[in-house]
Amino acid sequence: VIPFVVAVDGPAGSGKSSVSKEVARRLGFGFLDTGAAYRALAWHAEASGIDTDDGASVASCLASFEYRIGTDPSGYAVHVGDTDVTDAIRDPLVSAVVSRVARVPEVRTHLIELFRSIMANEAKPGIVVEGRDITTVVAPDAPVRILLTAAEDVRIARRSAELVGDSAQAAGEQLHRRDQADSKVVDFMNAAEGVTTVDSTELDFDQTVDAVIDVIRAVQ
Ligand code: C5P
Repeated sequence: VIPFVVAVDGPAGSGKSSVSKEVARRLGFGFLDTGAAYRALAWHAEASGIDTDDGASVASCLASFEYRIGTDPSGYAVHVGDTDVTDAIRDPLVSAVVSRVARVPEVRTHLIELFRSIMANEAKPGIVVEGRDITTVVAPDAPVRILLTAAEDVRIARRSAELVGDSAQAAGEQLHRRDQADSKVVDFMNAAEGVTTVDSTELDFDQTVDAVIDVIRAVQ
């Protein structure tokens, strides 16, 4: 049985991960955060002492990249080999280099294949997969495809809610730079044909979850 795929794309700070995870939990679906895989590879490259500016070196560390991930939204953890990197991959140092890792063509080919096999092997009746190119490249045939957006100032405010002063400003600048860099590789600012936009600028977390579930219910 092929699981029912809900593809969710969007820019940084759009709430994709937390919203998608909650949607998956409520529907009893699996959950796949593809950004976490790019982050884990960036962490692995840094830990291996690789120059992340050099695409060939980054591609070469794919051979030693042992990525392990569950799809259970309630206990979602990310491992590289035996190391739990669930928290480490959220470090600003990883956010600062992840776009350079994600633009390497060999990296994208490798991870897209990995995501497709995780989707195909999902034991739950469905899986919510979120990232930047899920609706367009990874799962363009998914029955539900959503672009989750919010105005940039709102995304920055949400992302830096727990930060103050300089670090809040730095977080905002980094989010902006990361979207600029990532947009050169895949377009996640505009909805592709057949993709439903959910704009959460004026919605709180629960309202956003409900809006996404409404889109799913409409086709399920
Ligand atoms: O979603 P998140 O912000 O954690 O993603 C981290 C990074 O992974 C992005 O900035 C982007 O460079 C990369 N990414 C990607 N394609 C995806 C998901 C994430 O290139 N489908």
